[in-house]
Amino acid sequence: MLGRVLVVDDEKLTRETLALALGDEQFEVVTATNGFEAIARMEETPADVVVTDLRMPSMDGLTFQGIVRERWPEVAVVFMTAYGSVSSAVSAMRAGAADYLTKPLNADELVIRVRRLVERRRDREEIARLRAASSAAARTPGPVFRSAAMVAVFEQAAAVAPTDATVLIEGETGCGKDVLARHIHQSSERAAGPYVAVNCAELNPNLIESELFGHEAGAFTGAARARQGRFEAAAGGTLLIDEVDDLPREIQVRLLRFLHDRSFERVGSSKTQRGDVRVICATKQSLDALVRAGQFRADLYYRIHTIHLTLPPLRGRREDILPLAEHFLQRFSAQRKAATPEMTPEALECLWAHDWPGNVRELEHAIEHAVMFARGGRIEPAHLPQHVRGAAAPPLVELHLEGVERVDMNALLQDTERRLFDWALSRTAGNQARAADRLALSRTTLRSRIAALRGAAAVDDVASETAD
Ligand SMILES: Nc1ncnc2c1ncn2[C@@H]1O[C@H](COP(=O)(O)OP(=O)(O)OP(=O)(O)O)[C@@H](O)[C@H]1O
Ligand SMILES: [Mg+2]
Repeated sequence: MLGRVLVVDDEKLTRETLALALGDEQFEVVTATNGFEAIARMEETPADVVVTDLRMPSMDGLTFQGIVRERWPEVAVVFMTAYGSVSSAVSAMRAGAADYLTKPLNADELVIRVRRLVERRRDREEIARLRAASSAAARTPGPVFRSAAMVAVFEQAAAVAPTDATVLIEGETGCGKDVLARHIHQSSERAAGPYVAVNCAELNPNLIESELFGHEAGAFTGAARARQGRFEAAAGGTLLIDEVDDLPREIQVRLLRFLHDRSFERVGSSKTQRGDVRVICATKQSLDALVRAGQFRADLYYRIHTIHLTLPPLRGRREDILPLAEHFLQRFSAQRKAATPEMTPEALECLWAHDWPGNVRELEHAIEHAVMFARGGRIEPAHLPQHVRGAAAPPLVELHLEGVERVDMNALLQDTERRLFDWALSRTAGNQARAADRLALSRTTLRSRIAALRGAAAVDDVASETAD
């Protein structure tokens, strides 16, 4: 349907002729015999364009137009006037009518003019939508950074944002991969479209394909209804594939194909769809190493790593700590409807000295904690979480190397690794995903390291057997 048109005329023939001509051109047409009835129709569902006779009994066209203008200011009104009453058409135009036509009517001409008005209205709506989107983007404060390293990353991001190129973002946990991906989306021409993020590590490996590409009803047990996947949900916008290193190999092939020709099928469907989606991938660990270990497809890697943005960890860009701390201070105190508190130099010192293994997210939590405990007063070191305060928790591992001549480093590292795996797996009842999380590893890395340890143990056994 192109648009909805309301035709108002007391003559049945005019109403029917116009309804037919407009209907043939895919307009939805409603008719009314007088102004009162027309207003009732508008109250039910406003039309995009109203075409009305100027001279009608009960309520004349100009009065009717005045009401429409007041109540539905965005609706265009077109007058039909009898040939010769051009002066009343002129006063109608002065009163804000969008157009006028003289009777006897040329229906084709009317259709053309109505179509133009509907298109103009759609354009205006589109512009309003884009403005609203960009002012919403302006209200949410952008990423905060001051370090030269981050300035460089954001300059690269600004250069690639307007293109549809696939981007790979690499960075430790909590250092702002999501923030950067969203920033790229918002600075792109897709800003008014959706931004969809999907985390591969959080998805059930059996359902990952359907999550991404959707499925048809009955595609597998439990798929009672058809469902769209994230690629469909992100149409016209950007899709962040987070923890792409955790994508199973069979799905890697499908992602590669999508990046190659933008096509995919829902699970259980043979109908190929095209997706207008810009893809951003994020990873905590270097994919390069995974490719060498055979866990990540080289062809996919080459496809996604051409534009590669690396977010440095917070400890590698300490100049960002204070601006970020200030930003979070403002945010959390505003949330509590309180004035932004000051930080004592000692508290700032603690922030500066801490290593931030959890990066910006850890800093964010530390400030939230401090704002809560300072209860509106200045922020002292005592208000920061203990580990940030630096009441130094003892190091997990201490080496006693005095008097030692030689160390078998591999054996030592393997032994430590083995103990860490035992510790993590015993605390998560053998759940590898959660154990990996406790060790700040991806599930894939955890699995491959355990396998490597088993391999090493087997080799050791063989070695000791042959030595015997
Ligand atoms: N430059 C920044 N400016 C403002 N806030 C930031 C910035 N970088 C990160 N943050 C905030 O820090 C938190 C963590 O950031 P984000 O979620 O983007 O990290 P991530 O790298 O995607 O983490 P993960 O690897 O765990 O997914 C978020 O709350 C985010 O708003
Ligand atoms: Mg993230």
